[in-house]
Amino acid sequence: MCGIIGYTGPLEARDLLLNGLAGLEYRGYDSAGIAYFNTASQVRIIKNVGKVAALRECVKKTAEVSHCGIGHTRWATHGGVTDKNAHPHRAGQVTLIHNGIIENYHQLTEEYGLGDKLVSQTDSEVAAWVLDAVYRDCRHDPLAAIGAFVKKLAGSYGFCILFDDRPGEIYAVRNVSPLVAAYTRSGAIIASDLTALISYTKEYFVVPEGHIVRLTPYKVRVYDMDYNRIEPEMLEVSWNMDAAMKNGFPHFMLKEIHEQPEALRNTILPRLAGNLPDFTADGIPDELFLDCNQIRIIACGTAMHAGIVAKALMEPLLRIPVTVSIASEFRYEDPLVDGKTLAIVISQSGETIDTLAAMRLAQSLGAPVLSIVNVKGSTIARESDHVFYTHAGPEIAVASTKAYSVQLAALYMLCCRMALTRGRCTKAQAGQFMEDLLAVIPAMEAMIGQSDHIRSFVRHLIRERDTFFIGRGLDYAFSLEGALKLKEISYIHAEAYAAGELKHGTIALIYDNVPVIAIATQDHVFAKTISNVREVKARGAYVILLAKEQAQLEDGVADMELRIPDLEDRFTVFPIAVALQLIAYYASIGKNLDVDQPRNLAKSVTVE
Ligand code: G6P
Repeated sequence: MCGIIGYTGPLEARDLLLNGLAGLEYRGYDSAGIAYFNTASQVRIIKNVGKVAALRECVKKTAEVSHCGIGHTRWATHGGVTDKNAHPHRAGQVTLIHNGIIENYHQLTEEYGLGDKLVSQTDSEVAAWVLDAVYRDCRHDPLAAIGAFVKKLAGSYGFCILFDDRPGEIYAVRNVSPLVAAYTRSGAIIASDLTALISYTKEYFVVPEGHIVRLTPYKVRVYDMDYNRIEPEMLEVSWNMDAAMKNGFPHFMLKEIHEQPEALRNTILPRLAGNLPDFTADGIPDELFLDCNQIRIIACGTAMHAGIVAKALMEPLLRIPVTVSIASEFRYEDPLVDGKTLAIVISQSGETIDTLAAMRLAQSLGAPVLSIVNVKGSTIARESDHVFYTHAGPEIAVASTKAYSVQLAALYMLCCRMALTRGRCTKAQAGQFMEDLLAVIPAMEAMIGQSDHIRSFVRHLIRERDTFFIGRGLDYAFSLEGALKLKEISYIHAEAYAAGELKHGTIALIYDNVPVIAIATQDHVFAKTISNVREVKARGAYVILLAKEQAQLEDGVADMELRIPDLEDRFTVFPIAVALQLIAYYASIGKNLDVDQPRNLAKSVTVE
């Protein structure tokens, strides 16, 4: 979604804003802009459609100097991708940038008679005009004006604001949309995302919702809506700038695929007591696992796919119903949730708005919420009753890879602890389970070692318009994520089907040479899956088969094969995930596409 940065201090603000925006590029956007006070204390705006590099060229054409400004990358929601719709927006004395959606912009347009004034089609410009009116009514008192302004808004927002008569000062306020801020030796800085901050500081705070922040070159102050000063809770960034750099890899996605074994170690090892999972340090009590009679997993995208794997793992082991819901559906389906429901909410960013809203709904229905989150201090992490932090480090590529495998690791550990607590397994079995989980780490390394072989599959894939993924049981759950990855970054139409379901309709889509990626790692359904492979092969499909090392395969059953290490069935998702990620990655490279920033997608989806 939109990226936001604001800076005031001794450094050259325009450079700093442009560098900050470049650091936010990974979030996905379509236009970018900055606004700043020049040395004559006038506000200047430069904005246009396209990448930060294009904006940088425009900025270079003016020789101005600035020490205070705001910058924005836009992901269009209201109004097309045009220069006028790009942020910052200016209205009277107010210049602002906005992340989120103002739902009542229509009513506000009428209430304030803005019809003729608006130069863009954005809800954000409407907000700027409203603030300008309120600012005049409040006799140019920024805190009073912002307090009155937000009372008029419905929706989500993170705003950074410049007032013409307050040079050197930036004001900010948020509801739902994330903002983090810091006071550093080089001045005051605010952004939608830590990556824009970490070059300057390790200490930061999450801007509390419903509070106003004032940044000056000398300090950052936070006020509640009664204008009392409050001290925000300071946090420390647990990773360094290196983690947000490509470090010799051509793309973030490839780097993040390679980081998975390490991310798993970081997530699993600190939570082992002897050979058993232990969440004492996370503050997750066993009662949480004992007191429930059903589990509802709620998430979006890749995180939701991790949930589908968890359901297939948990139900047979725990013998209680586990339901996986797409967060945006859960919100409106009048879900069956009560105090005996354990809600597990999964989100890499911890800011996905549908997931957040679904979580709040589950809480309002009495369910305790355990979240699995990668970003420390994010909204979902803070609002959930318990958090399991995954330790993947920053994930920059839009297509999620390492976040998925650590979410799985978290879910596997939770499942193991739950089984132990509920008497569904012995300590010895739980110990064996954890040993099997640790064994996936070298298996993932082995898969990375097969990158060249995996790359050889995609020559065929990128010639065709469709690809099908098939599998049964857990293999089907893995296929869903494989298809999503391929769609996201190669734009090849890809679908995952339960292999046995294929003949009930989808087999009509099998034509000569269409690639079918078949996953057959589950021993109890292996023979059945191979029968389905034969069915598509007989109809001309080009089959790439992923199976365990030990699997006996007759000659000619597949066109290409990839063997994965012989793990216990429930654990094969980890090396399979690496293989499917690499297939998608090389398909994207083969088609010469933008791997890290695929079209239309955003990393953190803060709109509904
Ligand atoms: C977006 C991203 C996906 C991600 C999903 C959920 O759609 O492009 O990669 O899986 O959001 O994000 P979250 O941060 O909640 O895991």
